[in-house]
Amino acid sequence: MEPDFDEVINRVGTNSLKFDFARQRGKPEDLTPMWVADMDFKAPEEVTKALEHKARHGVFGYSEPDERYYQSVKDWFRKRFEWGVESDWIVVAPGLVYAIYAAVRAFTEAGDAVMIQQPVYYPFASAARDNDRRLIINELSYDGAAYSIDFDDFERKIVENDVKLFILCSPHNPVGRVWTRDELIRLGDICVKRGVIVFSDEIHADFTYDGHEHLVFADLKPEFAEICVTGTSPSKTFNLAGLQISNIFIRNKALRLKFKQDIRRSGYGQANVMGLVACVAAYEFGESWLFALRRYLTSNLNFVRAYLGEKAPVIRLVEPEGTYLIWLDCKKMGLNDKRLDEFFVKKARLWLDEGTMFGAGGGGFTRVNIACPKSILERAMFQISESLKNL
Ligand SMILES: Cc1ncc(COP(=O)(O)O)c(C=O)c1O
Repeated sequence: MEPDFDEVINRVGTNSLKFDFARQRGKPEDLTPMWVADMDFKAPEEVTKALEHKARHGVFGYSEPDERYYQSVKDWFRKRFEWGVESDWIVVAPGLVYAIYAAVRAFTEAGDAVMIQQPVYYPFASAARDNDRRLIINELSYDGAAYSIDFDDFERKIVENDVKLFILCSPHNPVGRVWTRDELIRLGDICVKRGVIVFSDEIHADFTYDGHEHLVFADLKPEFAEICVTGTSPSKTFNLAGLQISNIFIRNKALRLKFKQDIRRSGYGQANVMGLVACVAAYEFGESWLFALRRYLTSNLNFVRAYLGEKAPVIRLVEPEGTYLIWLDCKKMGLNDKRLDEFFVKKARLWLDEGTMFGAGGGGFTRVNIACPKSILERAMFQISESLKNL
């Protein structure tokens, strides 16, 4: 059965971070939420069925990943990215943010330098700061239309600050880049040469638009696999974030042991059984659902591009190559960041992620989550264009 992504599902009153906690986060309660990165779609039917089956079993004791679990994960990465991984590279963790924090503690000491490429997913910066590491920023270059990497700045800052760990966002949230082979190899070569460990966050790997291919960083050169921790999860792909399951691949044994040691120290042991069940079902049966979803997201993106071009040309869509998060350049609106935020909240009545949350280079932008039924997206765009008339 074709999934019905047009269905508007009421998420209010479901403990939804996106829908139910506006007041606690200082926002009015009647905004349309298009911020945090989960989708307003039901997971694949096979996932729900597998969870129902487990729920009916009725016993929810301590659980561990079994052979079928590892096989489903390995098959997914082989099929989707031609990446052959071994079971013993896989470390299960309750989320990628958790894993990034663990990597920061495992591979660096207090005071060490950790590099990120802002504007970027905000927990990258928190993972360094919360653990008393020095945050070094290789800001992405924006030419008014697209983003690229300043490799000279990247290498210079690594050397000057003795960077120990680089957290790569690939594909990149929020600027939507799907890094090319050339870019990844240049980054990797510098990290190998300078002895920098790479945490490659590839949680958005399944979301690329036509003409762009996600490449697994660790698979590009054997020496990259030796310095790399690859963060993956079915949570973005199949909308399972609340089930808290992620698969971290570490080929290098010494790195893997250090990482596992930190996880053990944090007191995390067994995985959430519902997360295990959902991951297997999603990876075994979810591919055609994903293809349908990608078509739907492409059509949402096409709609936004055409709508803004015609009705709100003062806002520029930074053309995404991947992810369902779009990055809007609002600089031509001529508002400072506080007023820009007020515009989206008070006038357009939308709850978005302000660009400044993503750090350096985020001012003047906003991030919109387009993984919602088209009718919601149409209304949101209308609210923006109408509000612009009274600016
Ligand atoms: C780049 C990136 N990494 C990690 C996460 C969150 O991962 P998790 O929910 O597994 O902690 C997100 C969610 O938006 C993300 O965009």
